[in-house]
Amino acid sequence: MDADSFRRALGTFPSGVTIVTTTDADGEAWGITASAFCSVSLSPPLVLFCPAVSARSHDLLRGAERYAINVLRPEHRTLALRFATAGADKFARAGFRTESGVPVLSSALATLVCRASARYDAGDHSILVGEVESVHVQEGLPLLYFDREFRELSPAPLLAPPGRVDRYRDRPLLDADGADGSHAA
Ligand SMILES: Cc1cc2nc3c(=O)[nH]c(=O)nc-3n(C[C@H](O)[C@H](O)[C@H](O)COP(=O)(O)O)c2cc1C
Repeated sequence: MDADSFRRALGTFPSGVTIVTTTDADGEAWGITASAFCSVSLSPPLVLFCPAVSARSHDLLRGAERYAINVLRPEHRTLALRFATAGADKFARAGFRTESGVPVLSSALATLVCRASARYDAGDHSILVGEVESVHVQEGLPLLYFDREFRELSPAPLLAPPGRVDRYRDRPLLDADGADGSHAA
């Protein structure tokens, strides 16, 4: 497998976008844009994210006792770029407040304040598992990242739960052989 095929394969998998933030011993705020975030456990409530070892914030995030994972909205796309730029003045006029000692983006779709739970080496990244201590959730839709571009979610669900209108019911489905299949009842 060559590196380009690997990247293209990963590019087929869409994700949300977060800004992960923490504060150093001098009270200075640090943060990076990270799409490598996912849920891990409900009880206890655990999530993980993966900072690159090459990121300037890596050692600080890896050593942090507490950090906040801020889930972004489409309106945050330029903020996402700013937090993906090493050396940028990341926190200027961005609307962060301090909560439990870490910077929290007030307009985030959701914020999960985490206490560090486990740290693992994983190639050129670290896997940082955090126990979620508190959350804020607001109404809205998330910013998406797909095929190296920011995207927006269609507000219509693809397959509605029972009792709700499935707006896509006339779309074709593929069965296990890749042929057209009939729509499930
Ligand atoms: C949409 C998007 C997602 C990203 N996801 C990650 C990620 O999950 N982990 C990571 O280490 N870097 C990720 N990056 C890159 C970092 O944000 C970028 O390297 C940043 O400069 C690191 O900041 P620092 O070097 O100042 O610490 C992502 C960038 C973008 C634009």
